Amino acid sequence: MTAYDAIILGAGGAGLFCAGIAAQRGRRVLVLDHAAAPGEKIRISGGGRCNFTNLHASPADFLSDNPHFAKSALKRYTQHDFIALVEKHGIAWHEKTLGQLFCDGSSRQIIQLLLDEARDADIRLSSPITSIDKTGSGFRVGTGSGVFEAARLVLATGGPSIPKMGATGFAYDVAQQFGLNVIAPRPALAPLTFSGVDAARWDGMAGVAVPDAVASIGKRRFREAVLFTHRGLSGPAILQISSYWEQARRDEAGRVQPVTLDLCPDVDLFAELKAARSTAPKQELATQLEKHLPARLARRIVELSNAPGRIADLSDARLQAVAALAKTWQVTPAGSEGYAKAEVTLGGIDTAALSSQSMEARAVPGLHVIGEAVDVTGHLGGFNFQWAWSSGFACGQAL
Ligand code: FDA
Repeated sequence: MTAYDAIILGAGGAGLFCAGIAAQRGRRVLVLDHAAAPGEKIRISGGGRCNFTNLHASPADFLSDNPHFAKSALKRYTQHDFIALVEKHGIAWHEKTLGQLFCDGSSRQIIQLLLDEARDADIRLSSPITSIDKTGSGFRVGTGSGVFEAARLVLATGGPSIPKMGATGFAYDVAQQFGLNVIAPRPALAPLTFSGVDAARWDGMAGVAVPDAVASIGKRRFREAVLFTHRGLSGPAILQISSYWEQARRDEAGRVQPVTLDLCPDVDLFAELKAARSTAPKQELATQLEKHLPARLARRIVELSNAPGRIADLSDARLQAVAALAKTWQVTPAGSEGYAKAEVTLGGIDTAALSSQSMEARAVPGLHVIGEAVDVTGHLGGFNFQWAWSSGFACGQAL
């Protein structure tokens, strides 16, 4: 049997990056994955161009029961470190928006970078894991193609989002086996679905996009695009706020929390409508709204506010209702589209069980957890890959 210093379960971003760091430190590393190809989520990420990090990544961009946990790893391996690595590999990149960095070419370049960095590691794909046992000196892992032993075991099997790509909750089963607490996993960065009332009100709006909107819950706000879907709302602002909505679905009284949407930020719509009533009284209300909103949406807002016809005929109260629907629209989602469409998983293995320096389980020496399997979830925009790199680095240094 080949002797390994570490076995890494999962050949995704975190597992491969960790393997490279450890192998370059002279560790004998085995990576096992049940999938036939490595880094499948990287391949499909960022519309095929992989949003591999974010220029502005900071601990504030991550959700966790312990918001301090990620600080150490993010500081030790930063977005600038990963950008330098991307450049070392000759991969051309660009900033799309809001600090989000993408490959000019293909996300496959990032997978190749990871494989090149981990060239001294033994990577075995199509290897479903059948058993994990603690031995006197480490861990024994059974697979369809053999049994392997190592002093250290790294769990890098991600979370259950997008099961059709081979994603599983395997890390949580292993956590349970070793007595590690798991913070309830939930789909995050996922489209939200309308409740029955909203579904009827906004029926037929699928495809309408509002390029600049603000979605908020309490003080947390995201200003990006919002998109109407057949079942609810999507677009970056909605995906971002969905993570916070999942985190605090119900208020203290058990009521489902609404998401507030401002569909035309920076515009004092009520003041503008009142002014238009004086300056252009014969104008239709919809025409005025179309200055800031897509035409289909403007017309639906007019219908829903029961304010048809000329703006001159509308009272202050009616104009205020129209402005409120566009600027403080409260949507109470029925739920989200779930793991089938969620980019990541909120929750995961409790950081309280792990060292923030080495990602090692305090109660199970030699067992490490990295990447999405951990209760650290990034915002949309390259932050989740940055967590894969940073947590993989912290662990790889400790193997
Ligand atoms: P990841 O899921 O990547 O890897 C886990 C590995 O473990 C997989 O190879 C899997 O096959 C393997 N595995 C799972 N269960 C197993 C088992 N039982 N036995 C053996 N192997 C098993 N983030 C970002 O920062 N920028 C972006 O552009 C995007 N875009 C994006 C698009 C889409 C559609 C999705 C679904 C997600 C993103 N993300 C993203 C999120 C990002 O993909 C995610 O956070 C990282 O891939 C997580 O890396 P991990 O290595 O932790 O898990």
